Amino acid sequence: SIDQRVDSLMKLMTLKEKVGQLNQYSGKEVTGPTSDRKSYLLNDIKSGMVGSMLNVKGVKDTKEIQAVALQSRLKIPLLFSLDVIHGYKTVFPIPLAESASWDMAAIRETAHVAAEEAASSGIHWTFAPMVDIARDPRWGRVMEGAGEDTYLGSAIARARVLGFQGNKLGGVDAIMACAKHFAAYGAAIAGRDYNPVDMSEQLLNEIYLPPFKAAADAGVATFMNSFNTINGVPATGNAYLQRDILKGEWKYKGFVVSDWGSIKEMIPWGFAKNMNQAAEKAIVAGSDMDMESEAYKKELEKLVSSGKVDVKYVDDAVRRILYKKFELGLFDNPYKFSDEKREEKVMNDPKHKEIALSAAQKSIVLLKNNNAILPLQKSIKNIALIGPLVNAKRDQAGSWVVYADTANIVSVAEGMKSKFANTKFTYAEGATVKDAKTDGFAAAVETAKNADVVVMVLGETWDMSGESKSRTDISLPGKQEELFNAIKATGKPVIVVMMAGRPLVFNSIADKADAVVYAWFLGDQGGNAIANVLSGDYNPSGKLPMSFPRSVGQIPIFYNHYNTGRPVTKPTDIVYKSAYIDSPNDPKFAFGYGLSYTNFTYSGLKLDKASPLKNETVTLSFTLTNSGKVAGEEVAQLYIQDRFASLVRPVKELKDFAKVKLNAGESKTITFTLTPDKLKFFKEKLGWVTEVGDFKVMVGGSSDGIKLESSFEVK
Ligand code: IFM
Repeated sequence: SIDQRVDSLMKLMTLKEKVGQLNQYSGKEVTGPTSDRKSYLLNDIKSGMVGSMLNVKGVKDTKEIQAVALQSRLKIPLLFSLDVIHGYKTVFPIPLAESASWDMAAIRETAHVAAEEAASSGIHWTFAPMVDIARDPRWGRVMEGAGEDTYLGSAIARARVLGFQGNKLGGVDAIMACAKHFAAYGAAIAGRDYNPVDMSEQLLNEIYLPPFKAAADAGVATFMNSFNTINGVPATGNAYLQRDILKGEWKYKGFVVSDWGSIKEMIPWGFAKNMNQAAEKAIVAGSDMDMESEAYKKELEKLVSSGKVDVKYVDDAVRRILYKKFELGLFDNPYKFSDEKREEKVMNDPKHKEIALSAAQKSIVLLKNNNAILPLQKSIKNIALIGPLVNAKRDQAGSWVVYADTANIVSVAEGMKSKFANTKFTYAEGATVKDAKTDGFAAAVETAKNADVVVMVLGETWDMSGESKSRTDISLPGKQEELFNAIKATGKPVIVVMMAGRPLVFNSIADKADAVVYAWFLGDQGGNAIANVLSGDYNPSGKLPMSFPRSVGQIPIFYNHYNTGRPVTKPTDIVYKSAYIDSPNDPKFAFGYGLSYTNFTYSGLKLDKASPLKNETVTLSFTLTNSGKVAGEEVAQLYIQDRFASLVRPVKELKDFAKVKLNAGESKTITFTLTPDKLKFFKEKLGWVTEVGDFKVMVGGSSDGIKLESSFEVK
């Protein structure tokens, strides 16, 4: 068995060699603040002082470096890891965009292709999925996750892990996944990256941990801890999270890698007085592998020899890491993932493009469509394409694609031209994304005047979201909103396509544009996907995975909030109510919202029980009908509210959803289940509990578009 093989190998290892397995270095590229390359890198590998590398890719390079590792005394192969976040060579939509598809099969498929490509290129391990719940769109890394909801986030975590890893590790088309960043990294105060997190046990357990648990249950091979503190303790030095919860309660058998330098960052945090103490705190707390701190390499042997750290912690970490190397089959064939022919074939698989197009289409959210201006007739004579992102390629890839071939990306201009073959296109950038200049406005206005319809492509550049890209102002940057106003003043119909790595604030556009298509960053096939949506060849089906605020002042804003003791029941009656005097409470666009070119009606909600016992499942069914004129897909959503409890409960909590395809006029019976677990909430000291009492059931096409209601009473 693997356990026996690990044991026999560990018997041969010196303490130094064990420590070596816990050390991870970055190779050529950097994804963290390293200033220069290590001159001692190859020597360290040769002497068994490195267990894993990140940021080395390609069969040629990984093979060369693996050969050095195989010169070490025990010939233990290296693990090659990389941030394969939304595609390796083929660029898929950013994870937040894909989450808007609510389509688990599609999400699993793109992760699988990413794994296939990466694995063919010598990579064993991706630092994905990021499963951090994020309720603050100022935080740049919202682009990398599944949004604000824990139920949707858990489903997506599962889909991504299964996509990367397949059903089992060991094949050459699967790589290890990594659930990151453990934990609560998305709750950084004020949305500023790397900031502390302060959070109740209840919130941590109910909202932030479930996607990690879902990833663990799906068999995720590794976890990464996070840069933040939680209630004063850095995640990297957090025994409660890593030992008690992850490896204790959840019985997790994989290993935990630190984030880049997060062990040594416990020094500036003021949690460790030097490297020695940082290494001690990290290993004792359950951080198994040290990414780029060199704390273990420098300090661990001393710590164990002096008796300060029990060798059992080192052994446990080594055992976990070696287990994965065996599971991947690297001891049997260290070059298993390094086959030039396979690399060539997989990288050029034409199916990957189709999958990228399908995923991109599904990720688009139609936010507004006045007078059914969309879809556009293909016979339309003149379209003006205006805005700084009309020709965007690199921007459409979004962040975290350091290794992709961005020249392949189809811009909106290219996609539109090939879709509307008989249309005359005119172009004007009008403005840049970020500059304050307005000297391009006049030409853009002239271009608009001569067109039948204007399509504006606006948004953020790719590097305005992602790691360390927090913003205090999430409105449309530069003069883009003014450019829109100038174009709109021509009286021409204006369709706005918005590209961004986060929810943006764009009130005047939302109010005045004829249509708004939220396109996030869609990757390789973005332009074709957008053209398919604008032409109606694809009927949009995306739903927002995050609330879109009206202003930064509303942040954090999320649908599953509490009611307060003074809720606003009438928008005109806000005195002595929990309200703002200068803004409604609700978001501009709610979680779960998104339009289609057809209409869906909901009817006939039935529950199989009116008074279930605590351990019983409630099954709900209703009829969903496509009552419009074209085929389409709807994401039907089930929310519940536990009306009275010993702890205040949210006004709504998503508990099930289904993405359903219906032809015009077609109806289907949809069934949702409320298992006993879904009725539970977390109480400090007690854990997960169900309480008797009333539950409200709500079904609809968005969190603010409830169409059917019912209730039951748990006895
Ligand atoms: O995987 C990432 C992590 O999400 C942020 N810091 C760097 C790591 C490795 O690139």
